[in-house]
Amino acid sequence: MGKKAVVLGAAGGIGQPLSLLLKQSQVLTDLALFDVVPSVIGVGADLSHINSSSVLTAHTKDNDGLAKALKDADIVVIPAGVPRKPGMTRDDLFKINAGIVSDLATAIAQNCPKAFICVISNPVNSTVPIVAEVLKKAGVFDPKRLFGVTTLDIVRASTFVTSSLGIPNEAPKYSVPVVGGHSGTTIVPLLSQAEPKIDDKLLGNKEELEKVVNRIQFGGDEVVKAKDGAGSATLSMAYAGYRFVDSLIKAKYLGQTGVIEDSYIHVSAHPNAAKALSGLVGDNNSLEFFSLPVELGPDGVKDVHSLGQTTDYEKKLLEACVAELKGNIEKGSTFVTSKA
Ligand code: NAD
Ligand code: LMR
Repeated sequence: MGKKAVVLGAAGGIGQPLSLLLKQSQVLTDLALFDVVPSVIGVGADLSHINSSSVLTAHTKDNDGLAKALKDADIVVIPAGVPRKPGMTRDDLFKINAGIVSDLATAIAQNCPKAFICVISNPVNSTVPIVAEVLKKAGVFDPKRLFGVTTLDIVRASTFVTSSLGIPNEAPKYSVPVVGGHSGTTIVPLLSQAEPKIDDKLLGNKEELEKVVNRIQFGGDEVVKAKDGAGSATLSMAYAGYRFVDSLIKAKYLGQTGVIEDSYIHVSAHPNAAKALSGLVGDNNSLEFFSLPVELGPDGVKDVHSLGQTTDYEKKLLEACVAELKGNIEKGSTFVTSKA
């Protein structure tokens, strides 16, 4: 049986290195690249010389390329769309990216409705609800298979905590749960829940703790500023996106158990999602999407794990997250539902 992954937006800053990392997989049998720009054909020719297991195809819109790329896909990753420039918020990207993501979701519904969908395109808080509504309209929505990729926040949390503690590179990496959404204050790192437990040297130092949390929440801005108009995080995002897809590959094709990644999912994906969410923000939250620790399995979301007691400081972060996230979710959903 084929094992096919597809990258939509494969010629872009994230798309190219992500496709390179996926081409290294010895599990995939097929890797399809799609982009609206013709250079994707060259990217495909280049990557196709790598002697790994997957057969590589590259497609533009010509000759029904999107449908061909998506045919028989198990995993679709979407880094298509415009990135930020300095001074912009992720929400400023909605105007352009909402339509791009919505069109791609329509094609997925038509060509590979059972695929796992991994949404990278910003604003993730709203683009994931867009995909959900498009799939609902097409009658093929399965919340177990839709993922907003927030892995870069988890990668940053681990890096920034280690750096704040001044721990050498060879030390074990901290696994810090990051819940909520993927923009500024909706990104909620729960340092009190990290594994291994973070030293009181940081947890008990209010000023340093707030500095690290702020850096995790606004790490994207750091890169946007440094790239000075040339885009946002691409290489670290490709690394994070690959980590997420590799976890899906392990859970789906290799039968590995206990594969857990935080991801922005629909709360109906598993009964334990609502439980985990209310444990963090209470019962009356009316949130449909939230990033939570998701156990992955052959069908996608296999379980959702609850987190332990949060601190008063983290409770405040969660309150601020909920207030903003609600509007982001509604904006995405309405983009689809308001159309006839
Ligand atoms: P980029 O401009 O370098 O690449 C985007 C690619 O998408 C381009 O090649 C473009 O041709 C292609 N594209 C545009 N419309 C398309 C369509 N309809 N179908 C297929 N491809 C299409 O941008 P980038 O730096 O790769 O960033 C892509 C997106 O990822 C941005 O929205 C960015 O904000 C987001 N992002 C998300 C995260 C995250 O953590 N989730 C991290 C970094 C960037
Ligand atoms: C990030 O977190 O780096 C991405 O969401 C890109 C951005 O706009 O900051």
